[in-house]
Amino acid sequence: MPVVEPEAEVALVESREEASEEVANVATLATETVMEAAVVEVGDSAAESSEVALSDAPEPVEQKDESPMLGVDWPSLKQQVHDCTACSLRAGCKQTVFGVGDEQAEWMFVGEGPGAEEDELGEPFVGPAGKLLDNMLAAIKLKRGENVYIANVIKCCPSANQKPHVGEIASCLPYLQQQITLLKPKLIVALGKTAVTALLGNDAPLGSLRGTLHDYHGTPLIVTYHPAYLLRSPSEKAKAWQDLCFAVRQMSS
Ligand code: URA
Repeated sequence: MPVVEPEAEVALVESREEASEEVANVATLATETVMEAAVVEVGDSAAESSEVALSDAPEPVEQKDESPMLGVDWPSLKQQVHDCTACSLRAGCKQTVFGVGDEQAEWMFVGEGPGAEEDELGEPFVGPAGKLLDNMLAAIKLKRGENVYIANVIKCCPSANQKPHVGEIASCLPYLQQQITLLKPKLIVALGKTAVTALLGNDAPLGSLRGTLHDYHGTPLIVTYHPAYLLRSPSEKAKAWQDLCFAVRQMSS
């Protein structure tokens, strides 16, 4: 893992201040262990208020190439997602949740799909899991909207916080694929099993896919745990920190 740089400490302190006083003591230790602990502890304040459910592992999804019928620029793709009624999820949600961030970003983070809060606001990762994701970004000196793009596999919120079905994923996946095509990220970080399975077509246990540089149609892809899972399983946050360090190393190589 990388040695902590002064700037990284600053970012960490900022994220901590927003998140919790509980982690204040961590700032005094300038080691990589500190950074690891920070990611672990920063999430705990969000965990207290979270009832986010982690979805079970999805079935593998058949991989499709980008469809030439999809929007060839951001505005047309956004409009297509906005107008989409390809599966039954749209009827049960308030709005589609396209994605958010810098459309020239080098970093792309991909989650599963919007929950109730995301459905309300029309933006990915705005609930407790999103708060943890923002703190994870801050720990590696990234900020939502600045060189980072955040998207989901599915764009509509399933009712009752249910896991999206394989057919729903299959019909929505081309939108994500086209987002990746337009963005051309330098690195994709796949958050959790649904994103990993959808993008890699690999149903292996998520833990076995960590720590390896995968390939999504020529774009490097790193696997880590979904923030909602980390809120439910705080002991796994140290591994997520390892994955983020791996991602940073990859981006600087
Ligand atoms: N979980 C996700 O996978 N995406 C979101 O936008 C929010 C929670």
